Amino acid sequence: MKKLLITGGAGFIGSNFIRYVYRYHPEIRIIVLDKLTYAGNYKNLAALLGDRVELVVGDISDQPLVDKLVERSEAIVHFAAESHNDNSLSNPWPFIQTNIIGTYTLIQAATKYHKRFHHISTDEVYGDLPLSGSNEKFTPISPYQPSSPYSASKASSDMLVRAWIRSFGLQATISNCSNNYGPYQHIEKFIPRQITNILSGRRPKLYGSGSNIRDWIHVNDHSAAIWDILTKGKIGETYLIGANGEMSNKAVLEMILKLMKQPQNAYDIVKDRPGHDLRYAIDASKIRDELGWQPLYTDFQSGLQETINWYMDHQDWWQMDKNKVEMTYARNNQ
Ligand code: NAD
Ligand code: TYD
Repeated sequence: MKKLLITGGAGFIGSNFIRYVYRYHPEIRIIVLDKLTYAGNYKNLAALLGDRVELVVGDISDQPLVDKLVERSEAIVHFAAESHNDNSLSNPWPFIQTNIIGTYTLIQAATKYHKRFHHISTDEVYGDLPLSGSNEKFTPISPYQPSSPYSASKASSDMLVRAWIRSFGLQATISNCSNNYGPYQHIEKFIPRQITNILSGRRPKLYGSGSNIRDWIHVNDHSAAIWDILTKGKIGETYLIGANGEMSNKAVLEMILKLMKQPQNAYDIVKDRPGHDLRYAIDASKIRDELGWQPLYTDFQSGLQETINWYMDHQDWWQMDKNKVEMTYARNNQ
């Protein structure tokens, strides 16, 4: 495998994965297919573009374009998606179009040209777990119970991939990962929103009581897991990726405030998200036992400090989006 087609490679996780492959696997050439939506940023890839990384700006639902690029590649790693729950609640349509129709377009082409396909998905397809009274975690056989238009569209795309594996012999694997954090994450998401609020003189915003739990993983650990699945994973299998990083939103926010030397109560409680999932938690024993993957970023506080430093050092990367993102949230009382 020498040539990868990476969809959504100008976004948060896709661009981190490309930096990972660029650094550790110099034999690989990459074609990026990215629409450069509001979430995709040319700057995320600019330094890598050249002989080894090529950027094609286009839509994963554009069948002739997808056909041409899939034919030129040996394997496809599919990150492209509309990825933010809050946006899906105000306007679900782009989620249906990109996450469902876009995935359909890609797997049709991968089937036609007999190409290896890896589908990037989320633990949110499994819905949520109770906040207390259970140590239950998601496993590869947990039932699909998505709560939001975002998670429903990702669940739909997973189902399409599963059906194409079974009915058309698509050579595919699927991974469902927990919440990622790290550099290059769009400032609409929880952790970068709070960091950049503080850096721009705004107060952080916590939805509801802040007791909802997310299972945080550093984006570089996610990249390593994807590489292992791509190179060692068994066709037809689903792998769950998580790093035992469960924390309540309030605890994460208090850690950010402490690391940024702010008073512990210097934040606003704002309107809760409708249908807000209570708790996510991943049982990653399958990928650990079968593929030998393990997370390296096991100290959340130092990973968070590094992430804070990145946003402090890259103000030009996020400043021009900040007012617009906050105006959108403000219209929704968030
Ligand atoms: P992101 O929003 O930062 O990036 C998405 C990228 O896809 C952007 O570059 C955007 O321009 C591109 N894109 C969107 N629509 C497109 C289209 N129609 N055609 C071509 N490109 C298009 O998202 P992310 O956080 O990097 O997530 C990447 C993938 O990982 C998604 O599939 C998401 O569901 C999944 N995932 C994310 C998380 C997380 O915590 N962020 C966790 C688990 C899984
Ligand atoms: P988010 O980053 O949107 O990821 P997801 O919805 O995929 O989990 O949100 C993470 C958690 O943080 C989620 O429980 C919602 C909450 N949240 C806030 O409390 N305040 C905010 O400003 C945002 C954006 C999210």
